[in-house]
Amino acid sequence: MKSIRILGTGSYVPPKILNNYDLQKMGLDTSHDWIVKRTGIHERRIAGDDVCTSDLALEAAIKALNMAGITAGDLGLIIFATITPDTNCPAAANWLQAKLDAPNAVNFDITAACSGFIYALNAASQYLNSDFCKYALVIGAEVMSRVVNWSDRTTCILWGDGAGAAVLTTGDKGHELLSSHIHTDGANGQDLQVPGGGSLVTPITHDSVDKGAHYLKMIEANASFRVAVRHFIESAREAARFNGISIEDINWFIPHQANNRMTQAIAKGLEVPYERFYITIDRYGNSSSASCAIALDEAVRDGSVKPGDIICMPVFGGGLTWGSALIRW
Ligand code: COA
Repeated sequence: MKSIRILGTGSYVPPKILNNYDLQKMGLDTSHDWIVKRTGIHERRIAGDDVCTSDLALEAAIKALNMAGITAGDLGLIIFATITPDTNCPAAANWLQAKLDAPNAVNFDITAACSGFIYALNAASQYLNSDFCKYALVIGAEVMSRVVNWSDRTTCILWGDGAGAAVLTTGDKGHELLSSHIHTDGANGQDLQVPGGGSLVTPITHDSVDKGAHYLKMIEANASFRVAVRHFIESAREAARFNGISIEDINWFIPHQANNRMTQAIAKGLEVPYERFYITIDRYGNSSSASCAIALDEAVRDGSVKPGDIICMPVFGGGLTWGSALIRW
């Protein structure tokens, strides 16, 4: 197995801030205090009307390429994790390739909801390991604001828009991706879904739109909370076990950010101080496949992560999907 290296990271969130008070002003039957107490979210970012997922990804990708010191033309592979692609066809990765001017890359999207970035890291590692290409760009980006029902207080408070990216290669330069593990349980994966827009609800009709089939639905949110905590904890333990280290040896946990109470439960379950978790949910909400990628980039750029630090990125998402990455920075 080759050593997989992260050469650069990047992230981007759109400038428009929607805070909890704004949601109240929009007529939603909620309160800042309820949202903060139950989720830890204070505000989230919302893409402008003329901005789509690949636009956010482009900004994150440019930053990652700059940190890596390579150009878009050097890329042989772009893997784009998203559940809110610009279009169902072509792939979001293809829209991004065109905007980046990366003619030598082969591209595809991954649909793994909030675990998407780790799925993409894992897939890119396999391609790099088999010498498919020298440089790969991995993206997690979402415009969740386009698929949430802004009159459904049980879902719309949670989500936000953004993008995170990483440039990977093989060799001995860069930050080592020590492992990545991914898991799927399709048989129990119906609790988070966007039923419309695919072949399940087809064709799109006035009736399907009136029924809100194109909106993201969360069924059994409390049950998914408990299942998620269990899988987050198992994923962190799997990463530690695989690498022959203990949970204590991990300097930073940079998990998918779904709910701050969830993160507190994970910290408790792992018996790790909460301070070792890098948190962005207060500012960005849950940006699905982008969330842990944004958090990694911010933790690197603000100096929280120091050279040699061990970073664990446990994730869980709809589908069901879960997994982890372990990185030595
Ligand atoms: N504002 C005010 N009240 C709200 C509300 C809101 N935005 N949303 C729900 N409520 C109400 C409910 O209607 C309920 O009222 P009732 O007791 O009169 O029936 C009450 O608050 C408690 O609802 P409950 O669903 O038990 O709240 P909770 O503390 O479990 O929090 C979530 C709800 C959705 C925040 C929480 O379950 C969650 O984050 N789940 C994880 C979902 C997720 O992220 N899944 C994907 C993982 S990546």
